[in-house]
Amino acid sequence: MRVLGIETTCDETAAAIVSIERSGEAKILSNEVLSQIAAHAAFGGVVPEIAARAHVEAIDRIVARAFETAGLKPSDIDAVAAAAGPGLVGGVMVGLTTAKAIALVTGRPFIAVNHLEAHALTARLTDDLAFPYLLLLVSGGHTQLLAVRGVGDYLKLGGTIDDAVGEAFDKIAKMLGLAYPGGPSVEREAEKGDPERFDFPRPMAGRPNPDFSLSGLKTAVRLVAERIAPLSDRDVADLCASFQAAVVDVMVERTRAGLRACRTAGITPSALVVAGGVAANQPIRRGLTRLATEAGLPMIAPPMALCGDNGAMIAWAGLERLRLGMVDDMSALARPRWPL
Ligand code: KG4
Ligand code: ZN
Repeated sequence: MRVLGIETTCDETAAAIVSIERSGEAKILSNEVLSQIAAHAAFGGVVPEIAARAHVEAIDRIVARAFETAGLKPSDIDAVAAAAGPGLVGGVMVGLTTAKAIALVTGRPFIAVNHLEAHALTARLTDDLAFPYLLLLVSGGHTQLLAVRGVGDYLKLGGTIDDAVGEAFDKIAKMLGLAYPGGPSVEREAEKGDPERFDFPRPMAGRPNPDFSLSGLKTAVRLVAERIAPLSDRDVADLCASFQAAVVDVMVERTRAGLRACRTAGITPSALVVAGGVAANQPIRRGLTRLATEAGLPMIAPPMALCGDNGAMIAWAGLERLRLGMVDDMSALARPRWPL
């Protein structure tokens, strides 16, 4: 079975073809990602109108390249999947319409994929991972702890009451004059800094519900930055290192609460999984690995190339749905909001 997946919910125009053999082995036959970072960098964040136009310009080329790299033609695939949300609706419509058109022309089924579900299932593309598992989903727009019980079967254990983790990284970077997207910039600066110079708060620590709050931490960083300004390179590195150390502690402590919430709900997870753009952060991965070891579970994180938005995760979620007969019709709409 081979599925084409298209992703256009934010600032990556992406298309990929993923297959599954009779043996059950999953393969990424192509995975083309065109990042629009350069187009948005000057604005310090994604500008929806610019994103939508850039998707229109790039989509045909990226889809053609996904077929070329895989050495396949449209009639060789078994289904077409596209992220139908949540995301910036102008961009989503570009990917969705393209996927529907390819499905119509080839006569193959069409699958409208939830972008969050695609992040949630990505670890099953690269690892032998059985349901149920505890997922920490951390991206630019979302921060959630979910018990993943099956395809389309998610129990939300907790989430952020204000900012998403990626958003906090992006805002701190902007505040400190670092390049967009903020996550990788802050991680790079933090490597040079002292994580113990500033004692930032660990919001929600000790609360039984595995919820998150990050805006207080962001404000604490801003207040210190304003107090010690003008900032030297050393100050910026130390602020980043101390902020990131607080984020790692929060992620680990809140995920530990998530493990407890799983047990309370009668769920025994097979693994601790982290997904989404922020899952690329090495100190967060290391913190979660320590927690998983403590809990006697494997920790699974997708390879770096599959942490940020990509087409392979959409194709894989489409394939998981196709195998269960979960296909959609042409009436599927672009959804700016679409909780799991
Ligand atoms: O999943 P993603 O590519 O897009 C969304 O669905 O939001 O996540 C993007 C987010 C951005 O906020 C970006 O700053 C963050 O992931 N990010 C990171 C790192 N790489 C990307 N955050 C922390 N450390 C990183 N290395
Ligand atoms: Zn994403």
